[in-house]
Amino acid sequence: MKLTDKLLFGVVAAGLMTACSEKAPQSAVIETVVPERPAGQTDMIGFAAEPLDTVRVGFIGLGMRGPDAVERFTYIPGAKIVALCDIDSARVEATQKMLDNRGVARAAGYYGSQDSWKQLVERDDIDLIYIATDWKSHAPMGLYAMENGKHVAIEVPAATTLEEIWDLVNTSEKTRKHCMMLENCVYDFFELNTLNMAQQGLFGEILHAEGSYIHNLKEFWGEYWNNWRLDFNQEHRGDVYPTHGLGPACQLLDIHRGDKINTIVAMDTKAVTGPAIIKENTGKEPESFANGDHTMTMMRTENGKTIHIQHDVMNPRPYSRMYQLTGTKGFANKYPKAGYAFEPEQMDSTVIPDHENLNVHSWLSDEQQAALTEKYTHPIITEVGNLAKEVGGHGGMDFIMDYRLVYCLRNGLPLDMDVYDLAEWSAMAPLSAISIENGSAPVAFPDFTRGSWNKTQGYRQAYKK
Ligand SMILES: NC(=O)c1ccc[n+]([C@@H]2O[C@H](COP(=O)([O-])OP(=O)(O)OC[C@H]3O[C@@H](n4cnc5c(N)ncnc54)[C@H](O)[C@@H]3O)[C@@H](O)[C@H]2O)c1
Repeated sequence: MKLTDKLLFGVVAAGLMTACSEKAPQSAVIETVVPERPAGQTDMIGFAAEPLDTVRVGFIGLGMRGPDAVERFTYIPGAKIVALCDIDSARVEATQKMLDNRGVARAAGYYGSQDSWKQLVERDDIDLIYIATDWKSHAPMGLYAMENGKHVAIEVPAATTLEEIWDLVNTSEKTRKHCMMLENCVYDFFELNTLNMAQQGLFGEILHAEGSYIHNLKEFWGEYWNNWRLDFNQEHRGDVYPTHGLGPACQLLDIHRGDKINTIVAMDTKAVTGPAIIKENTGKEPESFANGDHTMTMMRTENGKTIHIQHDVMNPRPYSRMYQLTGTKGFANKYPKAGYAFEPEQMDSTVIPDHENLNVHSWLSDEQQAALTEKYTHPIITEVGNLAKEVGGHGGMDFIMDYRLVYCLRNGLPLDMDVYDLAEWSAMAPLSAISIENGSAPVAFPDFTRGSWNKTQGYRQAYKK
């Protein structure tokens, strides 16, 4: 995306314009427009909809990701698969066959055109639209779903531009419909248990969190419908897939539950492997390839915390989402090997074996870690962890995500992730692009809650009483 495109959406370069003048700039932070909340509209903090006895779902997008979601829903109590849509009729039929195999009734099928999904959305017997299409179609589908009275769950990232993100926020606030991003990585076992430890103060004050999406997509590039993913990387600079790293970090740092991200700064390497893939596929050197092979983004919060997120889908590295936190009393790190380090007094000596040999310079032993994990198993894992492992989906986290979505809707509870999580985690992509395209200048991180970021203190999932 060029800066001129963003100017259309009103990027205000506060201070940058005066950088060459005699007076020192007041601020070099680039600001983007925060649209005023329309009159009569209120925020969605803590929003809960009327409980639904059965959650009736329509799925759009049955490529590599979608059918597994449909299958997971066949295991969730109180969920009903009402309709399926993909442009490609064969993909709809393959998913119907999966339903046959699972002994579940076939759903209504929609296919054949780019717009068939609209008929699915317009049905009056669906509560939730579940979207697993390419990134550019996410926001238009989500908006139409809410306008047609449906809650919506959208794969990551839920939107690709700031304008789309603000549209989703405004439409959710206006229609009072949930708009959740399907960020599954916040539900992985290590992340949930560590979050539980964090919420019980084990790490002291958490000062810094790291995350990443390091995943060599070599085997996948050719599999995406219409080549949408490589095209998107070719066209866009910045961390275009930030949510798996940022989601868990924001939950640890209580973002918009007592803290907020204020500033973002990003830097990338040149693009080498991206253009090489295109040359290999087409025989021609591409005229341009926007996305640098490796992108790093840093953020600072109102309460003086920092976050560092990285992205590399091009080069030969083992998979990593990093997931690291530094607290004043402890440390956690997931990749390449999950582990913890703590000030000894943080650990219960009656629970942790060999407690007297604990020290901050070394990792907990496997035995100590197992005892700690057992003591701090997250209540969601206690409830559904075994079933999640059985059903699967990235080791179970995908099932936990879907299960919690249905659970909260059935019990009339706030969802685990609200529309502002969606906004913040998706916005890192266009905001990091603005920073990079302006020489890694700091960019103000918009307050998508428009003043309500401090209304709740501390991130917590909701449970029925
Ligand atoms: N959370 C995760 O771990 C995870 C993992 C993989 C993919 N994803 C996300 O899931 C989404 C889908 O990824 P994928 O790998 O399945 O891609 P894919 O290319 O395999 O599938 C996309 C599907 O969407 C369909 N589609 C496109 N436009 C449509 C339209 N207008 N109407 C109906 N169907 C349409 C295509 O026909 C295709 O079947 C992406 O947003 C991706 O980022 C998330």
